[in-house]
Amino acid sequence: MIDMELLARKLADAGQGHLLKFFDRLDAETQVRFANELDALDLELLQSLIKSHVLQKPQIALPQDLQPAPYFPLIPRNDSESSYYQKADAAGAELIASGKVAALTVAGGQGSRLGFDGPKGTYPIAPVSGKSLFQYFAESLLSASRKYRTQLHWFIMTSVLNDRMTRDFFAEHDFFGLPENTVHFFTQGFMPAIGYDGKLLMADCGSLALSPDGHGGTLLALRKSGMLELMQQLGVEYLSYFQIDNPLVPVVDKRFIGLHKLENSEMSAITLAKTNAFEKVGNFCIGNGQLLVIEYSDLPEELAQMQDENGRLKFIAGSPAIHVISRKFVERLTAGGRLELDWHRADKKIKCIDCNGNPIDPTEPNGVKLESFIFDALKLADKTMIFEADRKEEFAPTKNATGVDSVESCRLMLTDRDARRLERCGVKIPRRADGTVDAVIEISPLAVWDDADCAAYVRQHDLTAVEAGAKLYLQ
Ligand code: UTP
Repeated sequence: MIDMELLARKLADAGQGHLLKFFDRLDAETQVRFANELDALDLELLQSLIKSHVLQKPQIALPQDLQPAPYFPLIPRNDSESSYYQKADAAGAELIASGKVAALTVAGGQGSRLGFDGPKGTYPIAPVSGKSLFQYFAESLLSASRKYRTQLHWFIMTSVLNDRMTRDFFAEHDFFGLPENTVHFFTQGFMPAIGYDGKLLMADCGSLALSPDGHGGTLLALRKSGMLELMQQLGVEYLSYFQIDNPLVPVVDKRFIGLHKLENSEMSAITLAKTNAFEKVGNFCIGNGQLLVIEYSDLPEELAQMQDENGRLKFIAGSPAIHVISRKFVERLTAGGRLELDWHRADKKIKCIDCNGNPIDPTEPNGVKLESFIFDALKLADKTMIFEADRKEEFAPTKNATGVDSVESCRLMLTDRDARRLERCGVKIPRRADGTVDAVIEISPLAVWDDADCAAYVRQHDLTAVEAGAKLYLQ
């Protein structure tokens, strides 16, 4: 039973007395639930974050000695690197085949830029079949499992806001053919949203406006949900981490996983060459002897534009948020049941009620959401490793409905990737004068995992050319 007097005093002392304004109007059940919600708040942490991140923009102190981070290049630079990569391929393949690798997808975001009603993973992304992001990944996992003669486990992080809908979606679709006991949902933590005046926002008279605590919440959520123990029981040692909005990413990458292992890395990252100095991706840097990801908005202009002796950007290494993470690293970081990653401020439009209890659906940002980011864990690792990937093979983020990093651009990139695959297998692809593919092509991940599968498919179906303007679904 919560001592309401004490709670009211604590809230008032923290400048949050307004939260009880409508309390007497609530029915008994809602009162109990809301009192518990309020009692569970870490008011001390919130007060300090409001001061540092809400009432003012947080000060980002960049290390003086900031340098670009070194990485393993996509194309090996010499014979010894080449044979090291082959060794990594073998090591990675062995780890995947022996069940030591699982996929970890973060799907707890709100996808507000996409403006889609529902969990982003349910978005129909595939260019011809219209299959959802979840289905696309599920089929990739089935295909990879077949290739490696194993059954990959899939850990999916949801948030309190989309957990039910996500689970229902999988159930309605019979888990897209995956064995149900290999799909493991867990829910991330949340943070209250805060108005610009430092007052916590209320969703209605008896609840706080909550938002998921960022993909950095993954690590603690793995611990709190019991997933780390489950992984241990299953013999899973490495997590292939990717975001729900990037269907181009290989769900497991033997070279990346192998390098992670050979380098004794605790947390590794894929990097892509940035398309321009100000591309909106994080930058891999070394500062104070640590691997840091500096957000594009925080990298000073002169550093972003700095070139090396070959006229190439010095800070070229961008982050597409693809990682391999050792389970033991997560266990170490969260051993005490706590993990303090840096907090980041995001200015957002937050639905809430005003001081009279009337609903507000703002058209401009009206407050702050606080999030932690997974890449901030890199600086806590004893050993890290970065490996370069080919953007067009790995990164097609679906952030917006149109334009840059959108549904449109993602579908085009999926078509391009599948067209290139077919071309490598001798199929003639119609191309416009500017080189773009003059067709919409989709190969089901169930039919093809790699080029060898594609070659077999092409032979079997006697596929020699794709017609201009065709809409083709190969399954
Ligand atoms: P984004 O940073 O793109 O955020 O997430 P978002 O919430 O999906 O989209 P916007 O910003 O509201 O438009 C990148 C990845 O991290 C996951 C997302 O689901 C996506 O896969 N994520 C983000 C979480 O799992 N939890 C979070 O709290 C935030």
